[in-house]
Amino acid sequence: MSAFRFDDWDDRPATPVAAPAAPAVASASAPQAAAPRPALAPVNPMDKRVVNGHADINQLAPFRYPWAWEFFLNANKNHWTPLEISMAQDVHDYHHKLTPAERHVFENVLAYLTTSDILAMRNIGLAVMEKMSAPELQIYQARQVYEEALHTWTYQHCIESLGLDQQEIYNRYRVVPEIHGKIALANRRLERVMRSDFDMTNRDNLHEFALSYLFFAGIFEGCWFYNGFTPIFALQRRGLMKGAAEQLQYIMRDEVLHCAFGIRVVRQLLQEENLTLDPLRLRELWDEAEAAEAAYAGYILREPILGYSAALHVNQFHFIANRRARQLGLDEPFPGAQNVLPWLDEQANLRKEKNFFETRVTEYQTGGALSWE
Ligand SMILES: [Fe+2]
Ligand SMILES: [Fe+2]
Repeated sequence: MSAFRFDDWDDRPATPVAAPAAPAVASASAPQAAAPRPALAPVNPMDKRVVNGHADINQLAPFRYPWAWEFFLNANKNHWTPLEISMAQDVHDYHHKLTPAERHVFENVLAYLTTSDILAMRNIGLAVMEKMSAPELQIYQARQVYEEALHTWTYQHCIESLGLDQQEIYNRYRVVPEIHGKIALANRRLERVMRSDFDMTNRDNLHEFALSYLFFAGIFEGCWFYNGFTPIFALQRRGLMKGAAEQLQYIMRDEVLHCAFGIRVVRQLLQEENLTLDPLRLRELWDEAEAAEAAYAGYILREPILGYSAALHVNQFHFIANRRARQLGLDEPFPGAQNVLPWLDEQANLRKEKNFFETRVTEYQTGGALSWE
């Protein structure tokens, strides 16, 4: 295949386009140019709002939400491409070292992730970003859209490297009800707020939007992704599938920021709009997320693997869900849940992990230290 050339357009006109004619000299009878428009009033940052704001959406500063700009700067410190991480040992591990139960776990985690990251991209890019009325919020979300696409590329790269059947892996969520359940639940949340006639000045719609963003940031990304990589990390801790696990560690760093940013936006939205979330709707949200996650865990871990089981997965979901609720300023949905996987938070810190396992040491963080939680 020939190398891609960045400046190889073939849609140039066959004949040179004539240079535009010089403007005619104004005659005495030509209309006079319009008077210069008076300068617009400077942007007052306090006119900015998360939604329904009045400030110029095309003017970044002065900031109302300087923390959003900080998120954007921090996001740019975690930069990699999946091609930079060797998958060679994973190919051997997958075909020669994993047990059938471990292969089942690995493939189904991957199958879930392939679909869910596309969904995450559509949610933030199509349902959320267009409703924001402060550019500093949109700028970070634009980066997030790119990162979700990068995550999808990463899964595709893993599938290609391991020689898995693409059609079968991508189609799995359609045929496995326990995977489909999580995707369907998220799709329902997305579709409720993505309608073209969704009026954000309506209080019920605002409440629906806040719940939806809370679901995607706090649960979909904050629990399902955060906790969802752990079966692969459990293999990594035993020296298996280390390339794929390292890819997921980079993704996890992005997801921790997506979750933290989304929670911050939701809190700001609730405060600005003087909105209180309906406790019954919240309870429903936690319960349906728990039911979907428990069914998923029961399927991917129908047989436990060394150091990991469906019960551990669900317990950890409860523990992380409580953390997200506290960060949202809400009551813990699963009081008394224990931290059954204390190594998971360390796993989110890539640098510590890489030193511990002495894998290929390449630090892609290009700026100062990142704070994860
Ligand atoms: Fe993602
Ligand atoms: Fe994300």
